[in-house]
Amino acid sequence: MNLLCRRFLFFLLLLPYLNSGDLADERAALIRLRSAVRGRTLLWNTTTLDPCFWKGVGCDKTINRVTALRLPGSGLSGELPPNTVGSLAALRVLSLRENSLSGRLPPDLASCTVLTGVYLQGNRFSGEIPDGFFTLNRLQRVDFSRNDFTGTIPPGFDSLTQLRTLFIENNRFAGPLTTDFHSLVRLRNFNVSFNALTGSIPSRLAAFPPQSFVGTSLCGRPLLPCSGADRDKLSGGAIAGIAAGSLVFILLILTALFFSWRKCRRREISPTNQTSPASISPVHKPPEEIITSNEIVFLGEDDEFAYSLEELMGCSAEVMGKGLVGSTYKAYTESGDQVIVKRLRNVCVSEEQFRRRVEEIGSIVHENLDVLKGYLYGTLEKLLLYQPNHNGSLSAHLHGTISTPLPWEARAKIAGGIARGIRYLHSISTKTVHGNIKSSNVFLTANLDPIVSEYGLVDLVAFFDDGGGYRAPEVLECGYISQEADVYSFGVVLLELITGKSPDKAVKEDGSELAHLVRLATRDQRDIEVIDPAINDSPENIEPFLSLAISCTAPEPHTRPSMADITRRLDEIKVSQHFGKYD
Ligand SMILES: *[C@@H]1O[C@H](CO)[C@@H](O)[C@H](O)[C@H]1NC(C)=O
Ligand SMILES: *[C@@H]1O[C@H](CO)[C@@H](O)[C@H](O)[C@H]1NC(C)=O
Repeated sequence: MNLLCRRFLFFLLLLPYLNSGDLADERAALIRLRSAVRGRTLLWNTTTLDPCFWKGVGCDKTINRVTALRLPGSGLSGELPPNTVGSLAALRVLSLRENSLSGRLPPDLASCTVLTGVYLQGNRFSGEIPDGFFTLNRLQRVDFSRNDFTGTIPPGFDSLTQLRTLFIENNRFAGPLTTDFHSLVRLRNFNVSFNALTGSIPSRLAAFPPQSFVGTSLCGRPLLPCSGADRDKLSGGAIAGIAAGSLVFILLILTALFFSWRKCRRREISPTNQTSPASISPVHKPPEEIITSNEIVFLGEDDEFAYSLEELMGCSAEVMGKGLVGSTYKAYTESGDQVIVKRLRNVCVSEEQFRRRVEEIGSIVHENLDVLKGYLYGTLEKLLLYQPNHNGSLSAHLHGTISTPLPWEARAKIAGGIARGIRYLHSISTKTVHGNIKSSNVFLTANLDPIVSEYGLVDLVAFFDDGGGYRAPEVLECGYISQEADVYSFGVVLLELITGKSPDKAVKEDGSELAHLVRLATRDQRDIEVIDPAINDSPENIEPFLSLAISCTAPEPHTRPSMADITRRLDEIKVSQHFGKYD
């Protein structure tokens, strides 16, 4: 454990560092806040010297500073005076949503220069946003909706290159949107509805839905054109020029993508031609708009899951496993939360591709898929963060450390859940693949519902492996990962549920794959022999699953069923066997 701590601390030391401050001063600021407002802060035990024990106060012990203040729905009322929140110079997350706070925001809020998330929605704040607030360039999420803020949306916004979310709906902001928003490349969630805004919508915002602008007097895309005159301004020649320009640009991008794709794939296909990890560097220089920083980017809207890297790496972590894409750790934060940290190795795509890919993955939400909560693209480390929502891997349940036996109905339910998760992934686009389905990447909740993890990551790293018995023959042969290959790997997991055998072991014991062993057994009508003796259900109930698994692991990719066929088939089996209990 200690060695690990040191390892985490190692890259912590490489970060741009905050000056070590005095927690006593921050404690005094919190006491001033407590006496200025009514509400649950009164429950803080002020005889305790360490404010980090107070509810809602998050600290980073390595720098001894307050980094988070989270008091959502805590019955707070009154005003926030200066020298309270504004004195918490290392504050990253401020969440005071759904209270009854009023008055102006303290001007010194702008001195919290490392703020990444500010959640003040659902209060009665009024007046203008303090000068300088909208230049805090680490801001990722700002939610000021449902307050009484006035004034204009200030210029200077352009420096917020990390901003992902801006919700200011239901306030009294007035006037035009003076910023062009073009440098806000990460902006994904945007809502200015129900404000007294006028003028035209900057083109950068035209892709947001009309619902982002309801109840305003704004015009232009995506709303109605501002005036007839603006519309046909571009001459035919100009339009042709723009079209040709875009085509060249698209071709450039496609060429770049193709080469980087090949680079990734080549490494994967020819294990003999191993490149040393040091030479695996980003293929392209990141474009200027991408700012390399050792900042964790949080995906999703969960302000409870927003830690600083310092908070995260502030010790106590255990290794959960080493896999294809890197190592996985479970980190315990100071506040007692757990975070799963995947440390990727041999990342072989450019920073821009990495960020785009990871953000795509982060936007995928399904009950049977693990949600990517955040990532760090650092100079030395590429980390992915997940929330632990599980109770051991399927592999641990079937072959390992967890000794409670899985009855057949639980196994059938697990198969159905995995299939639905993968079907959802495959439905996003024909190119969306998991790429690394195996029982150690499937986690079970307390109710034994499966959560499939690690999807979409194989494209980001260069790796050399034989897939431990899960890889379809065509992947081993030519390194091409496809939805058909996912179906093969799913079939192997299904066989694993049926036989209780680990495909890794099957490879070692017999020099052939689990799928092959089972195929031979069924050909010779020895089906019963392959069924896990721990399953106490009649073989006739298991038979249809076995034949489905065999068709999934067909050597010819085009003869395998699709994930949609598989879920349909599993549902039919369920109905025919009257197994309501599989849900
Ligand atoms: C407050 O903290 C002090 C010292 O840490 C402790 O003795 C006291 O019991 C606490 N009071 C409450 C109400 O928890
Ligand atoms: C923006 O906020 C308004 C009012 O709260 C809501 O009606 C609208 O659906 C929101 N738009 C989006 C895109 O979420």
